[in-house]
Amino acid sequence: HSKILQDLHGRDHAYLRISLIERCNLRCNYCMPEAGVQLSPKSHLMTYEEIYEIAKIFVNNGVTKIRLTGGEPLIRKDIPTILEKLASLPVELSITSNAVIIDKYINILKANSVYNINVSLDSLNAEKFKHITRRNEFKRVYTNILLLIKEGFKVKMNVVLIKDFNDNEIIDFIQLTKDLPISIRFIEFMPFDGNKWDISKMVSYANVIKQVNTSFSVNQIRRLQDAPNDTSKNYKINGYKGSFAIISSVTNPFCDSCNRLRLTANGQLKNCLFSSGESDLLTALRSGNSIEPIIQKAVRAKFKIRGGMNTIEKLQEPKLHNNNRSMITIGG
Ligand code: GTP
Ligand code: 5AD
Ligand code: SF4
Repeated sequence: HSKILQDLHGRDHAYLRISLIERCNLRCNYCMPEAGVQLSPKSHLMTYEEIYEIAKIFVNNGVTKIRLTGGEPLIRKDIPTILEKLASLPVELSITSNAVIIDKYINILKANSVYNINVSLDSLNAEKFKHITRRNEFKRVYTNILLLIKEGFKVKMNVVLIKDFNDNEIIDFIQLTKDLPISIRFIEFMPFDGNKWDISKMVSYANVIKQVNTSFSVNQIRRLQDAPNDTSKNYKINGYKGSFAIISSVTNPFCDSCNRLRLTANGQLKNCLFSSGESDLLTALRSGNSIEPIIQKAVRAKFKIRGGMNTIEKLQEPKLHNNNRSMITIGG
C-alpha cells in the first residue's frame, strides 16, 4: 500500500482511534466541564456506514489496529452493528470503556473478537469515585471489571492521578495486581479544553516511582519490556499476576514512537491528541470526493511532539491547549 500514513518524521500510523459518540453516562471532572460540552447536531455525526467506509480506507492504507472510544462507546445504540462491520476488516479491534454497562455486551464483544478492553477507574473508594464521575456507579463498574477478567478479556485499568485526591491509592491499586491479571496504568493528568488543568494537580511518573520504591524493595520491582508504540512504561511486582504502568504524556512524552491517528465522532481527523487542527473527512466523503489526499495532508502536518507543545512551559499556556477539544469529544 501507499505511504500516505507516514509523516515527515518517519512515523508510520497503523493505529486508528475512532470516537463513536460525544456523550457519556459518567461526567468525569478531568474529562469534561460540569456544564457539559456543545454537542454536534446528529446529522453531523458519522453513521455506522460512514464509520465503516472511512475505516476501510485507513485499513487499505496500512492501519492494523482500531480502538473504539467515546464519550462512552457502548451507549451508542448501533454499537452491535458497528462492531460487526469493523470486525469484518483485517484489524485488531479494541475498545476503551467506563465499564458501567459492559456486562450487557460480553457476548457481542466476544463474537466480534474484541478482547483488549481498557477501562477507567480512578478510585477504589465509592465516595471518591462519585466525586470524580459525578455519578454513583462505583459498585457496577468494579463488579463489571471483575466480570471482564473472569470472562477472559485482556483488561487494562486506566487511573488518572490527581494530586492529594487519589495519589494515596497508588499502592492499593498495585496490590490489586497481586491476584488479578490486569495492567493498572497510572496516567499523568493532561490539559484539555474545560478541564481546569494545572500542573500542580498532576502526579508525575517520578512521583509514582518514588512511592513504589518506598513500599517495595528493589528486588521486588521489575521493569518490563514495553510493547512497540506503547503509551506506557511497564512494571511488575515479582510474583504478582498483573502489572502496572505509567502513562507520562506530560513529563516524558512518547511521541517519537507515535503510531496513532484519531477520528472524531463528527468525522474529523486529528493527527495528534494535542493538536487543535482537524481535517474534515466526513464532508468530503459525503460529497463523494476521495478522502485519501486529505488524510495524507493531515498526516504530513503532524508535529513532532504534542501538537507543537514541545515543552512543559508551552503545555501550560492556556491559549494553546484550550484551542483543542474537551477530552470527552476526543476519546483519549
Ligand atoms: P493501547 O491501545 O492498549 O495501547 O491503549 P492506549 O493507552 O493507547 O489507550 P487508552 O484509550 O486506554 O488511553 C489511556 C491513556 O493514554 C489516556 O489517558 C489517553 O489519553 C492516553 N493516550 C492514548 N493515546 C495517546 C497518545 O497518542 N498520546 C498521548 N500523549 N496519550 C495517549
Ligand atoms: N488526562 C489524562 N487522561 C485522561 N482521560 C480522560 N481525560 C484525561 C485527562 N485530562 C483518560 C480516561 C480514559 C482514557 C481514554 O483517557 O481516564 O481512561
Ligand atoms: Fe502521538 Fe501526539 Fe500523543 Fe505525542 S501527543 S504520542 S504525537 S498523539
